[in-house]
Amino acid sequence: MGLYDQWYENAIFYCLDVETYADSNGDGVGDFRGLTSRLEYIAGLGVTCLWLMPFFPTPGGDDGYDVADYESIDPRLGTLSDFSEFIYEAHERGLRVIIDLVPNHTSIEHPWFQAARADPDSPYRDYYVWRADDPGDTSDQVVFPGEQEGIWTYDEAAGAYYLHHFYEFQPDLNFANPRVRAEFRRLVGFWLQQGVSGFRVDAAPFLINLLGVENTLGMQQAHEYLRELWEVTAKRSQAAILLGEVDVDLSVMADYFGGGNELQALFNFPLNRALFLALAEGSADPVRLALNELPSIPGAGQWVNFLRHHDELNLLRLTSRQREQVYAAFGPEAELQVYDRGLRRRLAPMLGGDQGWLRLAYSLLFSLPGTPMLFYGEELGMGENLSLPGRLSVRAPMQWSTYDNGGFSSAPVEQHVRPVLAGGDYGFEQVAVSRQRGDRDSLLNWLAMLIRVRRECPEIGTGQWSVIDAGDDAVLGLRHDGAEASTVILNNLASTHRTVTLELPADEAERATDLLGDRDYTPLADDQRMRLNGHGYRWLRLGGIY
Ligand code: NOJ
Repeated sequence: MGLYDQWYENAIFYCLDVETYADSNGDGVGDFRGLTSRLEYIAGLGVTCLWLMPFFPTPGGDDGYDVADYESIDPRLGTLSDFSEFIYEAHERGLRVIIDLVPNHTSIEHPWFQAARADPDSPYRDYYVWRADDPGDTSDQVVFPGEQEGIWTYDEAAGAYYLHHFYEFQPDLNFANPRVRAEFRRLVGFWLQQGVSGFRVDAAPFLINLLGVENTLGMQQAHEYLRELWEVTAKRSQAAILLGEVDVDLSVMADYFGGGNELQALFNFPLNRALFLALAEGSADPVRLALNELPSIPGAGQWVNFLRHHDELNLLRLTSRQREQVYAAFGPEAELQVYDRGLRRRLAPMLGGDQGWLRLAYSLLFSLPGTPMLFYGEELGMGENLSLPGRLSVRAPMQWSTYDNGGFSSAPVEQHVRPVLAGGDYGFEQVAVSRQRGDRDSLLNWLAMLIRVRRECPEIGTGQWSVIDAGDDAVLGLRHDGAEASTVILNNLASTHRTVTLELPADEAERATDLLGDRDYTPLADDQRMRLNGHGYRWLRLGGIY
């Protein structure tokens, strides 16, 4: 560990949205006091860092990613002092908190945009990107096909077109303008001062996208902006990170790390797609390939691995044949798909609620080089609510209990920010914390165990990793070597049993400890050949304190 605290290399991230987590005052909207009252649950699960989705005042057109004021708390969710109390209580439990930073665009209701459109001489005019001439048809450049017509919209008040890569109510900021950059340096400083440990940088590639500002800004300068954000972050805190949402071509992905002075961590989108292809094929090959193709990253850099998050499972960068394979396995019906590129589903229903398969999927996720991230409710095997439009299907309220409204809120259901999933195999009557807390075989308790084991093996986050050939294409063998110990993990992607052999030197096999498995295994010292059941897994530690 260098001067800088690289805690994120061995964190367990847990993403949640305050408004759908727990409602403390019975108004139907989750809030900071509700979240604070659930911190013991979160800490008990073993996660180490929360990622909060946007909690700022917003008209809510894009679930908070349309920010109307970056400096305060959405009044439905509480006050700044509630936030402060939450941070204190989180820290008391050893939990860090990172928050969403949305620097690419504001809400159309943000005072900056209101001032910009009203007066061409306003200093805010140049906070956004304008053009006078008709841009023509730009429908091929939209991010949300079917929900956006183009990326330029004519504004009557301004008498000009403004740029918006996302929805038309999310005007893109002009980051070529030094004042815009200064605003975000200030905002980063402000939230760090409130005790957060960094930011999830929303839509980071769009900050590097020079459309509309190409005349004023070169690519170098665009990266410069990320470096500026990093400088202010590092200056304020020796332990804060920028975690980027960057889903771009592999050839340019590592550029976003800079030399370690831009984004410190990136979500591992390439591996995410590969995981679903592997689960669909019942083969470890897609994961092996994706691991081999990952670019090398700077020492301070880290990948954040995940299965599902709050957006669609984006399969755009797979080949059409691969995409069809994933659709066929996990979402053949049109209502399960979105934007012609992905699935609006949660993991548990995708895997048919099969507990063995689900555990294999998480064992695989946690065994990959990098830091794992869970999306709230995954620990219970929550399902999607397809009655909610588009991507919101995976953002239904947390299911705490089998009482009315799943324990999310005491308000009548029509007042809920979003309905709790009720009925069927995944409704709160079946899937809830209260049903799993005391059940030693529940997914909740199993995941807590997996998290504990992963935390005990820091070499998975920081060591040297290698793929082990266990002699079967369906089985992913991974080895992580750290300064003090090594971890060896086998995951069988196939639903049928596989017989594999580890070929470890005798002295290593003798010191091997079984950490976790889908069943009891014969000690490695006695037999390195083993039968892995369908979707079986085995975690072994060599050396260390065991
Ligand atoms: C990425 C976020 O994850 C997504 O939910 C949002 O719609 C866009 N960025 C725009 O902010």
